Amino acid sequence: MLPATIDARTRVLGLIGYPVRNSLSPLLHNAASRFLGLNCVYVVFEVKRPHLRDAVRGLRALGIAGVNVTVPYKEEVLAYLDGLSEEARAIGSVNTVANVDGKLIGYNTDGRGFLRAFREEAFDPQGRKFLVLGAGGAARAVVFSLLSAGAARIAVSNRTPERASLLVDHFERLFPGRLEVAGFDQAALLSCAEECDAVINATSVGHGGEPVEEVSFEFLPPGKVAFDLIYHPGSPFQRAGWRRGAKVVTGLSMLVFQAAEAFKIWTGQDPPVQVMRTVVEKFVQGE
Ligand code: ATR
Repeated sequence: MLPATIDARTRVLGLIGYPVRNSLSPLLHNAASRFLGLNCVYVVFEVKRPHLRDAVRGLRALGIAGVNVTVPYKEEVLAYLDGLSEEARAIGSVNTVANVDGKLIGYNTDGRGFLRAFREEAFDPQGRKFLVLGAGGAARAVVFSLLSAGAARIAVSNRTPERASLLVDHFERLFPGRLEVAGFDQAALLSCAEECDAVINATSVGHGGEPVEEVSFEFLPPGKVAFDLIYHPGSPFQRAGWRRGAKVVTGLSMLVFQAAEAFKIWTGQDPPVQVMRTVVEKFVQGE
């Protein structure tokens, strides 16, 4: 999936996060570049927290054309950038950075990617009620896009409740009266999930494919949409949803759509979405 030739003109794209070794982003972006005949290569940079600032400076110094930013840096990275798109500013998190003549501009394509996937795989959010699990950068993008699309009500539940309150306060100013903080204990989650039309997992539980024992998703209501942002099949959230008869959606479509939006920002080209989807579907089927 590498470009036909890697030479002095190859544009380098990549991913910054930790852990990132199981990421499918290189597969997606390299397939897209290859399909369009672009001289670009996408690589993974596993960056530990103390090195984040230097890593971002390094993008400027080395002329890296762009990066995605993933767990756990989507909020922290804002401090090191030169500018933000309106969407990234409103969401308060960045998953895509473009190097424009030495200036690093932050974008958020998670929100659009999520919305496109949710509409395609579930329903239109207009007037509907949601329970969102998590309060990090991914959760912010989900909440922003649902509210922008006319969601009537969103309850946000997070292991660290203070972070859920911060998220709710942040969006309350833009979208007054449509948000609340929900408890993270099973009883609170059970009653809240039953009142909602869909539950969305925007926590990073299962992100690295690692087993997580201490979280229980056994409150997912049968028959309702349980949308996971994790794209690896068989995450703890997906398994609980299957067990309980929920309509489980994995994060695969969202992965493809957020990548497609990022690809367009970096290359200016219409992304070959079907090529990108096929390559990751094949990969996860073989997992
Ligand atoms: P991202 O930018 O992708 O959202 P993040 O900012 O690191 O990543 O956020 C990860 C989210 O997953 C947080 O909501 C986190 O909860 P805390 O705010 O309490 O840390 C949640 N999360 C991660 N591991 C978890 C676990 N084992 N149980 C419950 N929630 C977890």
